[in-house]
Amino acid sequence: MEQEIACLRARFAEEIGNVSDAEALENLRVAYLGKKGEVTSLLKNLRDIPNEQKKEVGQLINAIKTEVETAIAKKMDELREAALAAAVSGAKRYNPTLPSTEELGSYHPITLVQRELEDIFAAMGFTIEDYAEVVNDYQCFESVNIPKHHPARDMQDTFYLENGQLLKTQTSAAQNHIMRKYGAPLRAIFPGRCFRNEATDACHENTFFQMEGMMIDRDISISNLIYFMKTMLSEVFRRPINVRLRPGYFPFTEPGFELDINCLICGGKGCPSCKNSGWLELCPCGMIHPNVLREGGIDPEEYTGFAFGLGLTRLAMMTYGVKDIRDFNAGNLKVLSQFESR
Ligand code: DAH
Repeated sequence: MEQEIACLRARFAEEIGNVSDAEALENLRVAYLGKKGEVTSLLKNLRDIPNEQKKEVGQLINAIKTEVETAIAKKMDELREAALAAAVSGAKRYNPTLPSTEELGSYHPITLVQRELEDIFAAMGFTIEDYAEVVNDYQCFESVNIPKHHPARDMQDTFYLENGQLLKTQTSAAQNHIMRKYGAPLRAIFPGRCFRNEATDACHENTFFQMEGMMIDRDISISNLIYFMKTMLSEVFRRPINVRLRPGYFPFTEPGFELDINCLICGGKGCPSCKNSGWLELCPCGMIHPNVLREGGIDPEEYTGFAFGLGLTRLAMMTYGVKDIRDFNAGNLKVLSQFESR
């Protein structure tokens, strides 16, 4: 028996030395430790051993069993490490310049509309700015002329963090930063995600996108505002767009407006989509309030400017005919992968 065990040990050592992959290792394990494996049958044969030798032989068999088990586990680790090292060292390296063989992804419809607007504004000399989503009270409200306890805050309830910061309710939160960054004159747009504590339905979301814009220079007037909005919207909708301004109240504008466009469906004649008015409300805007310019370090005696806060999510709904705003955030790829840049 001892002889047999010694042979088995030698054979096993040789065989495991030849193993170079996980499959071969598993076969070896079965051959030695499986139900009909070599070590297992040694244990079975133990019953034929005379009683006085059983203890000693039993110990020998158990020892070889442990040896085989340990060697297999060690080999398994070695193989895993080798596979990892090969992957890292680039045996199968990812080459980002090769065309994909997988199905291609698609852009989110809001990204598509955002990029289209960015191109239009960039062509008119505007820079494109990025800004934080987590801001403080000063950035979101006070710097844009909404002091604490101002009733205008009621319309923009949001999510507050324990450290006093909040999720920005409007892209106007970046106005002050951008004025301070560039000074006057400036032309900038700043798209961004905004948050409000809203009950959601087909038209309301707690998370949505706006695209804010500002133009500040000497002698900027409402005519400039109308011209830029008309040009931009005619580009977006690919047809001449008529606009009208109605008075609107925003603490950071003086005067402030609601900008309407002629209804895209009936062209202005009146239809159910525009509630027979011929107009669709599209974009709040106005001349930047002197307090806001001053807070941004710009002298309102020398410079004036206009600003607007376009609802990017709403524009995406209009351009792509999306009826339910919640589709944008639901993460349903069947819905979201249908959109292409136009
Ligand atoms: N921040 C406003 C809102 O979210 C929208 C707005 C109105 C932005 C007028 C402007 C503006 O820049 O001039 O309701």
